[in-house]
Amino acid sequence: MTAIKGILLAGGTGSRLYPLTSVITKQMLPVYDKPLLYYPLATLMLAGIRDILIITTPEEQPSYQRLLGDGGQFGISLSYATQPSPNGIAEALLIGRSFLAGARVMLILGDNIFFGHGLQPVLHAAREKTHGATIFGYWVSDPERFGVVDLDADGNPTAITEKPDNPRSHYAVTGLYSYDHRASELAAELTPSARGELEITDLNCRYLERGELSVHRLQRGFAWLDAGTPDALLDAANYVATLERRQGLKIGCVEEIAWRAGWIDDHDLERLSAPIRDVDYGRYLLKLLDE
Ligand code: DAU
Repeated sequence: MTAIKGILLAGGTGSRLYPLTSVITKQMLPVYDKPLLYYPLATLMLAGIRDILIITTPEEQPSYQRLLGDGGQFGISLSYATQPSPNGIAEALLIGRSFLAGARVMLILGDNIFFGHGLQPVLHAAREKTHGATIFGYWVSDPERFGVVDLDADGNPTAITEKPDNPRSHYAVTGLYSYDHRASELAAELTPSARGELEITDLNCRYLERGELSVHRLQRGFAWLDAGTPDALLDAANYVATLERRQGLKIGCVEEIAWRAGWIDDHDLERLSAPIRDVDYGRYLLKLLDE
């Protein structure tokens, strides 16, 4: 099977969150008990992806490296690249071209949180697909804020439009995309849109035109949250806090995911927990070992 790698895009200006983002980048902001970035990283890890490129602005790269290092502590490999200006989500596939080296890729936006029963099988199904692209549709009340996918009666995509004035469907295209080995090659053929960006929607349209785009609709009850505005950030934090307190189980806990996947062993988990054994997060990790 061809390799699949991950790209986590965490650039951008975060301007809608100013002044929160005046000295700290959006993806580092807390969502309840962990930085926002942990959640999309956890999603890639739940997909079974262990080789991940994190793309940030040049200024922010050192703080990401301080936070996550080379990923060895989680049994994964993290590499870093920079995007000097926010020229579009599809640019991530050009920046990551040599990293991918012909592998398939799952690309996720650094401010997208996915949570729900059955997430892992959905991710695994997408990663097993060796040809074409898979995107994930999510029913929202305000589709005009997103890329929108129109579907026919059989659930097959017929069109994708970026922030349409009059959306013909309620399905937003979420910030998680799975592509075959041609993603970088096809992204290189795109030209900037009216807003000056290499649009991920245009790349998805390329796959659609070829009849090679699948849409997986995330079901009712599933959570897809983006944290792009103060309200969205607060909603996300409240959502995570409510579930974590009720169940005593953490969402987006990368150490736990690595341990459950067998990428790190009990001893590694204990070592990660040791410096934080007096705080809630560390106690949680240590408690896993009693299971
Ligand atoms: O969240 C899903 C939506 O993301 C999709 O429905 C849209 O089709 C897609 O275009 C995108 O919508 P936005 O235009 O609203 O994305 P935004 O510019 O807010 O960027 C999303 C994240 O990606 C944000 O955290 C910043 C980061 N980003 C964005 C761009 C354009 C980068 O790191 N680099 C970039 O060049």
